[in-house]
Amino acid sequence: MNSSDIILQLAVTIGDVPTLDLTHGLGVFWKQYTPSKLTTNDRNEDADYRQDFTATSFDDRSFELVVFDPPFTANGPSKHRHQKRYRSHRDQEGAPQNIKDVRRLLVGGIKEACRISGRWVLVKTQDVVESGQLHANVNLALNTLVKSGFNVVRETEFHSNRRPQPSGRRVTGLGRRPSVFILAERNRVAAE
Ligand SMILES: C[S@@+](CC[C@H](N)C(=O)[O-])C[C@H]1O[C@@H](n2cnc3c(N)ncnc32)[C@H](O)[C@@H]1O
Repeated sequence: MNSSDIILQLAVTIGDVPTLDLTHGLGVFWKQYTPSKLTTNDRNEDADYRQDFTATSFDDRSFELVVFDPPFTANGPSKHRHQKRYRSHRDQEGAPQNIKDVRRLLVGGIKEACRISGRWVLVKTQDVVESGQLHANVNLALNTLVKSGFNVVRETEFHSNRRPQPSGRRVTGLGRRPSVFILAERNRVAAE
């Protein structure tokens, strides 16, 4: 199971709707299924727009689905691998320098995604263990979605790239955390 398998599954529920990918990166999500109307944004990669996902110029409710997959850690399980795969790491302008930044960007981007979305928001995140401490990014994402007037309709967990830890990196008692796709839908009653 990988990200594009999950997107393919979720497309059955969401349907083929005008979609904004706020963090398009290398477009890994859309390897198996691509919506007919896909608009891409990424500050550091080739995309239709190169805007900061916490403060974009997109109109309120201008896309039916907004997809958001922010950096989930400042240095990644392996900084080099993270950089190679996503070409994003902390040397880039505005990139998260620590877990506090990661969480601030997660909240800021979700609020922006909820503002832009007419119906669906899809967030990918994961809890992170740093220095033996668990940072509950998934809970933070869920709470932010609900506070923004959305209902969580599905959570899909998966383990990506299970690999042995690089030498010198300690496996903590908490192990590696799964990635989670959270699908949320605008709460129409609350919005009225
Ligand atoms: C985890 S990657 C997304 C991977 C993507 N889903 C894919 O399929 O390739 C996070 C992306 O967010 C972008 N990014 C980081 N901070 C940003 C910001 N403030 N505004 C817009 N894009 C940002 C990075 O350039 C990176 O491509």
